[in-house]
Order: sequence, then structure tokens, then C-alpha cells
Amino acid sequence: MSSRTLLTGATGTLGQALLPRLRDDGHDVLAASRSPPADDDTAWQTLDLVDGTGLEAAVSDVDVVVHAATAPQGDSEAVDVRGTERLVEAAADAGVSNVLYVSIVGVDEIPLSYYQHKHEAERVVEASEVPSTVVRATQFHSFLGGLLDGVSRLPVWPLPTKLRLQPIAVEEVADAVVEHATPDPAGRVPVVGGPEVRTLGDLARAYRAARGLRRPVVRLPLPGKVARGFRAGDATCPDRTVGTTTWDEWLAGRYDQETA
Ligand SMILES: NC(=O)c1ccc[n+]([C@@H]2O[C@H](COP(=O)([O-])OP(=O)(O)OC[C@H]3O[C@@H](n4cnc5c(N)ncnc54)[C@H](OP(=O)(O)O)[C@@H]3O)[C@@H](O)[C@H]2O)c1
Repeated sequence: MSSRTLLTGATGTLGQALLPRLRDDGHDVLAASRSPPADDDTAWQTLDLVDGTGLEAAVSDVDVVVHAATAPQGDSEAVDVRGTERLVEAAADAGVSNVLYVSIVGVDEIPLSYYQHKHEAERVVEASEVPSTVVRATQFHSFLGGLLDGVSRLPVWPLPTKLRLQPIAVEEVADAVVEHATPDPAGRVPVVGGPEVRTLGDLARAYRAARGLRRPVVRLPLPGKVARGFRAGDATCPDRTVGTTTWDEWLAGRYDQETA
């Protein structure tokens, strides 16, 4: 049965990977953004989770909501917590069968403010009257690549090299999310991680080699609970190596393409 599915965060990194996959899986997708792009192939809905613009129209006549909107660099309390509250309330009123919330491995362990807001949003979703599913994933390769792109402009790369990460291709996260994007809520499903756990220092050196750069990577000692959590591997799930694309393979694809 094809379901009518609202995708929040449809312009984002994960949203862009989800859109074609949901369609290929037979969903009738309504894509949401604060500023929908011109795109004849997709039905777009203007939606702002902070002030509620477009919310009622977005959830009406929808079976499934895939909630991938977030504001990691912005006001994550307003978007991720209060916005999620607004969304699940409207979804419950509209009789939505399943709200699938995308979260991050370690949000309950690492006291980073963004993670605390994601954890609170998970609780909002689970406490709501609307049936739900929560899928946690590890960091996307592209997210880590973006961070290292920023650092790469410096003559020396000061990095907390001992942090442990398990990056994954966003396409593989999207595949796992689509599996649960059905009218049958599944609650908390097994987390989704990349194929290998590596230190940030090791990942940065692989990035440097892929770009043919020679800048020194220097260990930046980071005190505090956040860094301790990442060092302890709280943002990883070594028993759940669902993704198969390694960091090195992702880098090879990225730089072969750029230098071709
Ligand atoms: N990035 C990672 O490494 C990673 C890892 C694991 C899990 N996740 C989770 O995966 C999900 C998607 O992350 P992402 O990296 O794809 O995010 P992203 O690229 O930053 O995209 C964020 C999306 O949220 C939308 N948005 C922002 N503010 C909004 C608002 N006020 N109202 C409605 N929509 C709003 C943006 O749309 P407009 O600007 O067009 O409105 C955009 O489409 C998030 O739940 C994130 O926590 C991410």
C-alpha cells in the first residue's frame, strides 16, 4: 500500500537522500521546507516548525511523517524540541499513523547542548499520543568532511584526535530510515552505525592524504564531559556496523570526482 508521507527537513543532507528513496519505495511524498525550491517533480509544503507556518496543511491527510528537520547550528531548542512538540501535537490531531524521528547515537550520554535537545525531542516524540518510531544514526561522512574542510584552511590542524567516531554514508542511513517509514510504528529500533570506529586523528590523517595535503595534525586536549564521552566511544555503536561504505571509500569518491 502506498502511504502519503510528509518529509520534514527535505532540503537537508539526509532529506535529500530520503526524497528519491521514499519515492522509489512507493510513497506519495509531501516535502517540507521553510523555503521550498522550485522543483516540478516534488510536491512541496512551506513549513516552519518554529512559528507553526504551514503545519496544519502539512500533516493533514498524511499517514507517515519522517521528521528530519533540525537546527544543529541554530536554535536547536526552538526547532528540535519546541518544533517537534508542535509537529507531534498536530500529527496526533490529524490521526497520523507513525511519526519517525531521526536522532543520533549517544544523545543520551554526551552533554553537548545540541545532543541534549535531540534527546529531549526523542522524549517528546515518545510521550506524544501519536504512534512513533525513533531511528538513531552515527555521524554522516559528509558532516565530518565538512568539519575537516573548515579545519583544512588552517596551517596546523588542532584537533581532539582521541575522539572516537563511526561515520556512515548518508545514503545508507536513508536506506535504514525508509525501511521504518511505514504506517506501522516500531518504537525504538536498532541504531545505525558506519562500518568502522576510528579516532578523529586517524580520520583526519586519511582526509589529509586523500587531499594530498601536508599540514600537521596537532592534538588539542579538550577537557570536559563532552570530549570525555566522545573519547569513550559514546557516539559509536560497534555492534551495529550497518553501513558498508568506509571513510576511505567515501573520500576516494569525493576527491576522484572533484579532481576528474
Ligand atoms: N549530520 C549528521 O552527521 C547526523 C548524524 C546522525 C543523525 N542526524 C540527524 O539527521 C537529521 C537530518 O540531519 P541533516 O544533517 O540532514 O540536517 P541539515 O542538513 O542541517 O538539514 C536541516 C533541515 O531542517 C530544516 N529546518 C531547519 N529549521 C527549520 C524550521 N524552523 N522549520 C522547518 N524546517 C527546518 C532545513 O530546511 P529549510 O532550511 O529548507 O527550511 C533543512 O532541510 C537530524 O535529525 C539530525 O540530527 C544527523
